[in-house]
Amino acid sequence: MSGVTPLAADPALFREAMARFPAGVVIATAHDEAGRPHGFTASAFCSVSADPPLVLVCLATSATCHPVFARCDRFAVSVLQAGQEHHATRFATKGARKFTDLDVTTTAGGQTALAGAHATLDCHVEGRHPAGDHTIIVGHVRHVVLGEPAPPAVYYRRRSGRSCRSPTPDLAARRASSQPVHTLRGRLAGCDVTAGGGGRPRAGRRACPAPTAPAGRAAAGAPSRTAPG
Ligand SMILES: Cc1cc2nc3c(=O)[nH]c(=O)nc-3n(C[C@H](O)[C@H](O)[C@H](O)COP(=O)(O)O)c2cc1C
Repeated sequence: MSGVTPLAADPALFREAMARFPAGVVIATAHDEAGRPHGFTASAFCSVSADPPLVLVCLATSATCHPVFARCDRFAVSVLQAGQEHHATRFATKGARKFTDLDVTTTAGGQTALAGAHATLDCHVEGRHPAGDHTIIVGHVRHVVLGEPAPPAVYYRRRSGRSCRSPTPDLAARRASSQPVHTLRGRLAGCDVTAGGGGRPRAGRRACPAPTAPAGRAAAGAPSRTAPG
């Protein structure tokens, strides 16, 4: 149609808009055919379905580990908590010896995952979907382990860091003021911490306040991420 400019988002504005979306940080890991572990840092990770339990992670086709994730039939996701941002830096560094001197654990599904992660999910690959310069990898979650309750690692405006104070005093304060906890969750759902330990979830939930400033500590030297966000 003449006189109508087709909508095309400015790439820099798109990146900036995505950077304004706070996201959790995970390390996705998989084995190659020789059984060697590979992994990358991802914030393009989310849950897709509750029944069956499905998650997705997006991986750049340019990633060195892409061929491994393009062929594997299983992978693991280690959700980072505050204080584990150095793992994000390591797993976002091309050519790094990512598993050297790393404290790892073997999941129930036989995958290599980070020891001490906030949560660990064992996944079977349910499907792969090309999406621009990324591949969306959908995983069927087969096993979950929860770490001790802790504030999450959050990636926001190209920095990762601790977005929440310790949740416990805040919850106590909110309870004391009789403000319903669910309204706090609605404000910053990503900051909810499900209590757990020894891999067994407990009923209690804790809520954190919204962050007052973008990110505490930068993922020092972290290369710019390639996924949306
Ligand atoms: C906080 C953070 C989040 C990232 N999220 C993603 C992501 O969701 N998908 C992706 O492909 N790369 C993401 N990256 C970049 C990759 O981790 C990085 O390019 C990595 O080195 C790719 O793996 P490779 O070393 O095998 O090439 C992210 C990096 C950082 C620091």
